Amino acid sequence: MQTLPIKSVEYEHPQDGGSCTARAWARTPATPTPAERTELRERIKRLLKEREAVLVAHYYVDADLQDLAEETGGCVSDSLEMARFGRDHAAKTLVVAGVRFMGETAKILSPEKRILMPDLDATCSLDLGCPADEFTAFCDAHPDRTVVVYANTSAAVKARADWMVTSSIGLDIVAHLHAQGKKILWAPDKHLGSYIQKQTGADMLLWQGSCLVHDEFKGIELDLLKAEYPNAKVLVHPESPANVVALADVVGSTSQMIQAAVESEADTFIVATDNGILHKMRAAAPGKTFIEAPTAGNSATCKSCAHCPWMAMNGLQNLADVLENMGNEIHVDPAVGQAAVKSINRMLDFAAAKKAKVQPSADLAKEAALFSGVGPA
Ligand code: 13P
Ligand code: SF4
Repeated sequence: MQTLPIKSVEYEHPQDGGSCTARAWARTPATPTPAERTELRERIKRLLKEREAVLVAHYYVDADLQDLAEETGGCVSDSLEMARFGRDHAAKTLVVAGVRFMGETAKILSPEKRILMPDLDATCSLDLGCPADEFTAFCDAHPDRTVVVYANTSAAVKARADWMVTSSIGLDIVAHLHAQGKKILWAPDKHLGSYIQKQTGADMLLWQGSCLVHDEFKGIELDLLKAEYPNAKVLVHPESPANVVALADVVGSTSQMIQAAVESEADTFIVATDNGILHKMRAAAPGKTFIEAPTAGNSATCKSCAHCPWMAMNGLQNLADVLENMGNEIHVDPAVGQAAVKSINRMLDFAAAKKAKVQPSADLAKEAALFSGVGPA
């Protein structure tokens, strides 16, 4: 496997007199009082109806937003399902509670819809760490490689890619491409890329980005915690470092982690992902115990302490405000959108084909035959 020191992640901007994570934390909405919370929840429900809008939320956002999405006929899910749900829903207005790339993906898939977000500055360290111009130069330098990008990227980066993938399907898609003899250029998450490379044996050239939340999980401390809870199963998101993934019983997307918690016979789980997911995990698997994987300990920086500062920018008040004013609309340059939609649709077509023809993913040759009609010519 080749790796290049492409870029140190850009979520710190010392020249601006502070880090953008600090700015994000400073922008997170204040916790409403119980009375305000009740009023805001009712107002949002009323406005969603009046505006004929649907709420699409990620598992990492505020628990009230997740509940509202479900109570009002929207969805709370991982990035793959958010994209699919938004595309297939009849509503003309989608309110995306998550981070910017999720809103952009919704807009690219449904350019005719109005896509609103509670805070348009809610970004992602992976997106920040992969500027489109540098990424394009990287791709141009390796024309022999199939370009596969993670969903957590800008529209312009997706427009340069052959495939976009999310954490729930990236491994299957790279396995499929590998079985076709393709060499991969992967961006931006080095941990997810290297996990997929190890699992598939594919020839992958990796961009060196990372998620600041998952990057902070600590293998040594996780090992100590496992010793304290010997019966606990460890659920890990693959954006985590390799020494954390190595301790996992289950590695998967946010939805796959929740599903594992529900289906497992174990009653205690150590969870290495954003702690916003615990709300849904506890609801989906009542009576089971969930413990956050450690981010503290030696060399801890704790910029996130297991919670994404940009996801935390979504709150009841700014959600109510965008519905009231119909402001904070996501726009994507139509030409960029038309180029980017191809890489997203390849993934959605692959996912649909996979769902229609459930088969063991370990059998790569069989898988290649199964999906031979999917993907770039
Ligand atoms: P999922 O697709 O697994 O929900 O991941 C999105 C994300 O941003 C994880 O940090
Ligand atoms: Fe990006 Fe990490 Fe936040 Fe997900 S949790 S949006 S990958 S910074």
